[in-house]
Amino acid sequence: MDWENHLIKHLQWSDSIINREAKEHVAREIAATAKDGDVIGAGSGSTVYLTLFELSRRIREEHLHIEVIPASQEISMSCIQLGIPQTTLWNKRPNWTFDGADEVDPQQNLIKGRGGAMFKEKLLIRSSRKTFIIIDPSKRVNQLGSKFPIPVEVFPDSLTYVEHELQRLGASEIVLRPAHGKDGPIFTENGNFILDTRFNYIDSSLEEQLKAITGVIESGLFIGYDIEVIVAE
Ligand code: 5RP
Repeated sequence: MDWENHLIKHLQWSDSIINREAKEHVAREIAATAKDGDVIGAGSGSTVYLTLFELSRRIREEHLHIEVIPASQEISMSCIQLGIPQTTLWNKRPNWTFDGADEVDPQQNLIKGRGGAMFKEKLLIRSSRKTFIIIDPSKRVNQLGSKFPIPVEVFPDSLTYVEHELQRLGASEIVLRPAHGKDGPIFTENGNFILDTRFNYIDSSLEEQLKAITGVIESGLFIGYDIEVIVAE
């Protein structure tokens, strides 16, 4: 079975990977930096898949010993299918992490969480010595929140309280993220809800203010992180 084509076919965005050739090029460059013994965090998104394919090829062809810490079960399943050994944050700290983003502003602040895995993605970035964020040019924005809402992962029992607190913080829109193709809300891998929120103004303290609400597990705002953004263009 050609797992790479199999996986690509099942990506929800497979027909519309923006700048696929440029992303494949960046994926090759990122994968080329992997050294024997590296522990690598893998976020989510199309470029993450493309980079995993390259890592898998290097593992096969160069007998490279690396381990990946996946940000989601979906990425974990892909690692299994691609023959990429995995480990966990309980056991190891990543030497480096690669991930995508939904929006990046000129100061390299991010919105992530379209896939709902931002809690683990943030944990990986925080735990890593170095992080590459790979985006296509459409992800660049002058102001965060211009295109995507800020996802907020919420413990289900705290939903009403958190909605109230988000309003107090100035949220202009709060939407409980629906499940794909069925009634009811989506549940994250941690068993929580996601509220997609919009604010008229996003300042540098908003990430901390969101996190300070009891019942908020994590938000998709990444303000002031030590990352290297690579634009596939
Ligand atoms: C999901 C994310 C992803 O990294 C983001 O959606 C990137 O996707 P792509 O690489 O396909 O543009 O933040 O939580």
